[in-house]
Parts: sequence; structure tokens; C-alpha cells
Amino acid sequence: MEAHVTLLTWNCACTVGVRAMDDQHGILMDTMNELRLAAVRGLGRELVSEVLDRLIEFTRMHFWSEEQLLEQNRFPGLAEHRVEHQRILAQILQSSHRVQHGEKIQMRPLLCFLRETYTEHIEGMDREYGPWLNDRGVD
Ligand SMILES: [Fe+2]
Ligand SMILES: [Fe+2]
Repeated sequence: MEAHVTLLTWNCACTVGVRAMDDQHGILMDTMNELRLAAVRGLGRELVSEVLDRLIEFTRMHFWSEEQLLEQNRFPGLAEHRVEHQRILAQILQSSHRVQHGEKIQMRPLLCFLRETYTEHIEGMDREYGPWLNDRGVD
């Protein structure tokens, strides 16, 4: 397995303006960095698969918690947001399935894909709910 993917760093562009969500996004990024490290160190399929599982579990938890928050605050874009979460989760599960079933997998494209998927979602759709929640006293 080879991987030359730069470390994900937290920056303003990733801030959605809601503390609990920013913290969870931070954990997602830390987990992705961990995955990258496991790949760079050549720690093998088992460990990579373990970190990937953790990323999936945390992603599920995060999506659920974000959707709850949007529902409680009657965010108008919730339905659309939910569909996007489902789509992302299905894609990640598919990648993990391939790793677990012994397919020869290139770590670099996988890491790039994860990195792009998460950052695009956070900097795009997630940032849209920030002002709505802030206006309702959630910050
Ligand atoms: Fe989201
Ligand atoms: Fe999010």
C-alpha cells in the first residue's frame, strides 16, 4: 500500500459555526489522518480496515446527530441533506467492503476520495445550516 496524501488540517473554511458539529468534524478529520498514517506506515490491511470501520461508525453517529439537530430546529434543507449523508455513507461502505474482501486496493485514491468527500460536504452543505442554527440560539 502506498500513500502520499497530505495531512488534513483544520482551518476556517471547515468551521460551520456550531461548536458541537465543529468538534465532531474535527474528530472525523483526525480519524482520516489516522487512516493516512496507517497507510503511510504500511501497517497492513487489518489495521487500515479497523481505522476505516471506526471512521464509518463515527460518520454514522455524526450524521445522525447532525440530522437530529437540524430536525429540532426545523432546518428547511434537511431532506436534501439527509439524502446526501446516505449517499456519502453508501460510498464509504463500498470502499470498506472492498478493503475487507481482500481486493488489492490503492490507498492513495481511497484517501483522496475520502478527503474530498468529507471536506466538500463540510465546506458546502454543512456550512449552509450554520446561520440558520445560530439565529435560533445554537452556536
Ligand atoms: Fe452534513
Ligand atoms: Fe457534518
